[in-house]
Amino acid sequence: MKLFMSQIEFLRHMTLVSFIVLILLCSNTSPIFASKSCDFPAIFNFGASNSDTGGLAAAFEALPFPFGETYFHRSTGRYSDGRIILDFIAQSFGLPYLHPYLNSLGSNFTYGANFATAGSTIRIPNSILPRGMFSPFALIVQYRQFRDFIRNTKFIRDQGGVFATLIPKEDYFSKALYTFDIGQNDFVAGLSNNETIQQVNATVPDIVNTFIENIKSIYNLGARSFWIHNTGPNGCLPVTLANFPSKIKDRYGCAKQFNEVSQYFNLKLKEGLAQLRKDLPLAAITYVDIYTPKYLLFQNPKKYGFEHPLVACCGYGGKYNNNVRNKCGESININGTKHLVGSCKNPSKRVVWDGTHYTEAANKFVFDQISTGAFTDPPIPLNMACHRKFP
Ligand SMILES: *[C@@H]1O[C@H](CO)[C@@H](O)[C@H](O)[C@H]1NC(C)=O
Ligand SMILES: *[C@@H]1O[C@H](CO)[C@@H](O)[C@H](O)[C@H]1NC(C)=O
Ligand SMILES: *[C@@H]1O[C@H](CO)[C@@H](O)[C@H](O)[C@H]1NC(C)=O
Ligand SMILES: *[C@@H]1O[C@H](CO)[C@@H](O)[C@H](O)[C@H]1NC(C)=O
Repeated sequence: MKLFMSQIEFLRHMTLVSFIVLILLCSNTSPIFASKSCDFPAIFNFGASNSDTGGLAAAFEALPFPFGETYFHRSTGRYSDGRIILDFIAQSFGLPYLHPYLNSLGSNFTYGANFATAGSTIRIPNSILPRGMFSPFALIVQYRQFRDFIRNTKFIRDQGGVFATLIPKEDYFSKALYTFDIGQNDFVAGLSNNETIQQVNATVPDIVNTFIENIKSIYNLGARSFWIHNTGPNGCLPVTLANFPSKIKDRYGCAKQFNEVSQYFNLKLKEGLAQLRKDLPLAAITYVDIYTPKYLLFQNPKKYGFEHPLVACCGYGGKYNNNVRNKCGESININGTKHLVGSCKNPSKRVVWDGTHYTEAANKFVFDQISTGAFTDPPIPLNMACHRKFP
């Protein structure tokens, strides 16, 4: 009987051990040095209008044409003339565009589901549709819908039959990409409550904490790869400029303080996610700065092939072609004649679609910028977002 391994056996043993360690490191959410592209089989998205693929439209009522005119040639419930950033994300992985969880007609959730609805907030709002302003599907409601989605798909899978062909495989939940784009409506909620910008600004830490709590809850359901957008330069949006005309402007014509609130939110979110990376060692958490590439379009539109960035493409009235009474796609009365509030001549050269949301061309530009990793923390590209970076 040998009590000790010979040196050769010991070395062989160690080679096997390191081989196993290497395999473990290369599995999902592995460190960045194992730089294999991630194979996300599904995407689950949480958010507001900027990532809604038809959720609010399914729950309440369809958006009118010309929403969707550029790409889908019909209104799909997306707040754009065409595709949104989430569509470009799905497309980049060869996945179909995400169906809204709330859409009961013809939806197929094999490759994920979208829980986002336009008007959603991070904190539960006081005023909800149809009488009030905001979506009843706040982030915590979206989380609960997702929790029930997992539970119900398990049951449907066990039952088999046609419905089982419309849901994700069980292991997709841990392998999927989890995307987030939410926050700007929380500011609107404060302002519509007659809070000053400083008062809204003071609520940012609580808004961000609530955001982080919900991400943790989704992690606790098994999510591991997170791609989290910050919020854009909302002070540059025609809707902001038309409704708060007296505010101080920056050199590009954007409302300065509104953008400062966005920046403060983004700072707090970035810090919060850095802490979350420590708290959740199995998660790959990517903070995605969409503010900077969106702002580039207002700073230097010509350079990127755009024009009139502060003027809405689809709208009517005023310097910013935006007025709450003349919404994109609505029929309005001008001096006794009916007019449709339609789109501008060339949406592919315009930044803002309806005063609040971006055109497909702008969304594509932002996607091209963020997917490279140039605007993310840690600085990894979208297709590496399953890899954890060691601190
Ligand atoms: C659901 O979508 C997947 C992917 O596009 C497709 O393979 C499958 O056939 C679809 N199921 C049905 C019932 O259409
Ligand atoms: C905000 O102020 C306006 C104008 O003073 C008032 O009409 C409105 O009721 C106020 N809203 C709230 C929520 O207090
Ligand atoms: C928001 O609050 C932060 C932290 O107190 C402060 O640094 C920033 O200047 C404030 N911004 C505005 C627009 O009030
Ligand atoms: C509507 O009529 C008024 C008064 O005649 C005129 O000043 C204005 O330009 C007209 N507006 C449009 C859009 O034709």
